Amino acid sequence: MNILITGGLGFIGSHTAVALTEAGYKPIIIDNLNNSDIKVLDKIAEIIAFKPVFYQGDCLDKILMLRIFDEQKIDGVIHFAAYKAVGESVQLPLKYYQNNIQSLCILLEVMQEKGVNNLVFSSSCTVYGQPTSLPVDENAPSLPANSPYGNTKQICEEILRDFSAVNPFKTIALRYFNPIGAHPSSLIGELPLGIPNNLVPFITQTMVKIREKLLVFGDDYPTPDGTCIRDYIHVCDLAEAHVAALFYLQKHENTSLFDTFNIGTGNGNSVLEIIKTLEEIANQKIDYQVVSRRSGDITAVYAATEKASKILHWNAKRTLKQALTDAYNWQKTAPSPKGE
Ligand code: UD1
Repeated sequence: MNILITGGLGFIGSHTAVALTEAGYKPIIIDNLNNSDIKVLDKIAEIIAFKPVFYQGDCLDKILMLRIFDEQKIDGVIHFAAYKAVGESVQLPLKYYQNNIQSLCILLEVMQEKGVNNLVFSSSCTVYGQPTSLPVDENAPSLPANSPYGNTKQICEEILRDFSAVNPFKTIALRYFNPIGAHPSSLIGELPLGIPNNLVPFITQTMVKIREKLLVFGDDYPTPDGTCIRDYIHVCDLAEAHVAALFYLQKHENTSLFDTFNIGTGNGNSVLEIIKTLEEIANQKIDYQVVSRRSGDITAVYAATEKASKILHWNAKRTLKQALTDAYNWQKTAPSPKGE
């Protein structure tokens, strides 16, 4: 079965290409290289022992999208391609609304025209904001998003719900918690553009002296050690969740379906716990300084995982220590960050 992966050279997309291949699917990748590197294609090829079919281009290019569906027999799609920098989305909202929403609409039009009706969409736990009870389950209300980026995830989920309500179309939105780690081969991993926004790549870049020190955004939160709590999930576990979602869509009897699943480990860890675990792994002190809170950060969120376990038969298998070890090992040999 041929699966089109949009944004397939990105962090999660590249690991999903590997997981799909291991599960017997054939990945076909489209990526505009906006926030990824063409060399990732060779690294994926090294892991899976063949080079996936690759199209360089943009999902906003409907003519190209139609051509891909004409040239390849596509059985399902996993849609990763999107902008994802929260801070930038506040500054440049139209960039985010135009790209993230328009590309989904074009993809849906193309899939409809070509009669392909299975789609896995990458959503985010950001749709929950600060939940009133933890762990948060899929029935918790979506709160008003605190960034245009977060809003695009909510709007895209609504588009998928509305589209599948009136079309023979099956789609699952996976609400990721915090993806970290890298493939254990260290051939692929996270390659943030410029200064990382996210915690783990910032710490690992500090450990290899690309950054001087980590700034911890606030230690006055109402948590046991005062720092924020998140559900950090190994990117390989996350990748496998896409395979499980696709499998479920394909065997699902109804012609129409829209559903959402949390993809996390169910465990919450604080910023200081992440630092301490990485210090133990590398037997190295990490230089950090506590500064004021980052605007828009929530205190704590971690996933209720029962729904994905029961319906998708998927559970996160890897430990936090494994994820952080893989992240650190990847950083040691990773290419220098671009875009600075
Ligand atoms: C962030 C986004 C979220 C997005 C997710 C994608 C924000 C507010 N949220 O989630 O919408 O879906 O990335 O992966 O940007 N931290 C530091 N110092 C740093 C970086 C982070 O102390 O240099 C802390 C943060 O305050 C937070 C935790 O580390 O408590 C995790 O931060 P991060 O990795 O950016 O993830 P989220 O904020 O959960």
